[in-house]
Amino acid sequence: MFYKRILRPIFFQFNPEFMHDFMVFFGQIFGSLAPARWLIKSVWGYRGPDISKTIDGLHFERPVLLSAGFDCNGELTRILPCISFGGEEVGSVTARPCQGNPKPQLTRLIRNKSLVVYKGLKNQGVVQIAERLANRNSREKFIVGISIAQTNDERVSDAEAGLADYHATFKIMNELNVGDYYTINISCPNTFGGETFATPELLTRLLTKLSTVPCRKPRYIKMPINLSWDDFKKLLDIIDRFGYNGVIIGNLNKKYSLIDFPEDAPKEWRGGLSGKSCFELSNELIRKTRAAYGKRFTIIGVGGIFSPEDALVKFRAGADLVQLVTGMIFEGPGLIKRICNAYAKSLAPSS
Ligand SMILES: Cc1cc2nc3c(=O)[nH]c(=O)nc-3n(C[C@H](O)[C@H](O)[C@H](O)COP(=O)(O)O)c2cc1C
Repeated sequence: MFYKRILRPIFFQFNPEFMHDFMVFFGQIFGSLAPARWLIKSVWGYRGPDISKTIDGLHFERPVLLSAGFDCNGELTRILPCISFGGEEVGSVTARPCQGNPKPQLTRLIRNKSLVVYKGLKNQGVVQIAERLANRNSREKFIVGISIAQTNDERVSDAEAGLADYHATFKIMNELNVGDYYTINISCPNTFGGETFATPELLTRLLTKLSTVPCRKPRYIKMPINLSWDDFKKLLDIIDRFGYNGVIIGNLNKKYSLIDFPEDAPKEWRGGLSGKSCFELSNELIRKTRAAYGKRFTIIGVGGIFSPEDALVKFRAGADLVQLVTGMIFEGPGLIKRICNAYAKSLAPSS
């Protein structure tokens, strides 16, 4: 309530990109100070029964993760466990540093509970981020996944350059042994070449290329959510063939018509939509994937989680873990602890 009544109205007065940078800056400072970590943990840290899960050999203290795009450069690994996250996905990381798309890169659609995301994979590039994560100094049990995408610039304007770009990042991360798992983001709607690797032909080429890099960690694919089930299934069959551990379902919604107040959306294409309009699209694909493939894939459910009930819907649909980002911005950092409490309750024998 304190966040929604007092802090959010103040934060939402400011430009969303400024607020994002501001939050990351303070998150990093608070994360480096033991008293600040202690204070934040005492307010927003989960203290209930054991809700840990081991998935693909990784032990998650809590099954709620920060989704890719908020901590693009891997600067928040010390503060996020204090607000109950069991892990996060850093990135998406690209082979070269990238300034992202022309501004505005972020727009709030408040009554739609959504953000128009036109960041365009802004990040410091694999070398700097890998170095930062390799020097990470933390005793917290916290899983760090690395999301990998292709650099968003004119040098990556065709598939061949895109393949080389993904390959370079994946190779460096593996060689430096950075991160606990890797996600290949094939579905960013906001890059120079568009969503090029979410077709069967290009996905096959990409996974063939990446299979030349020795990797001993779990690997996932970040899926688009605007495909028909038939097209989605074609991608899943390829992912299955290449032995990937699972899928993250999914990325941003590209259809502006699907929000409650489409008149609030930009008139021209200005990036994908996060938040509420992703909720049902992702739930449906999670359900169908679980029904069609049983336990074959680990499923990480993402999109439109604004309450503990929303998270439970994703778990019931078949998700092993959930991720969120927009819910934290709209509802505040207390949301993660509330989800953990509700999840613990859902596991209790009497429920
Ligand atoms: C500001 C912002 C930046 C994002 N950047 C990325 C990204 O770099 N890579 C990625 O895989 N997803 C990115 N996403 C998508 C989210 O990870 C997530 O899939 C999507 O927002 C749906 O979840 P939500 O409704 O909880 O926000 C971004 C989302 C937001 C809001």
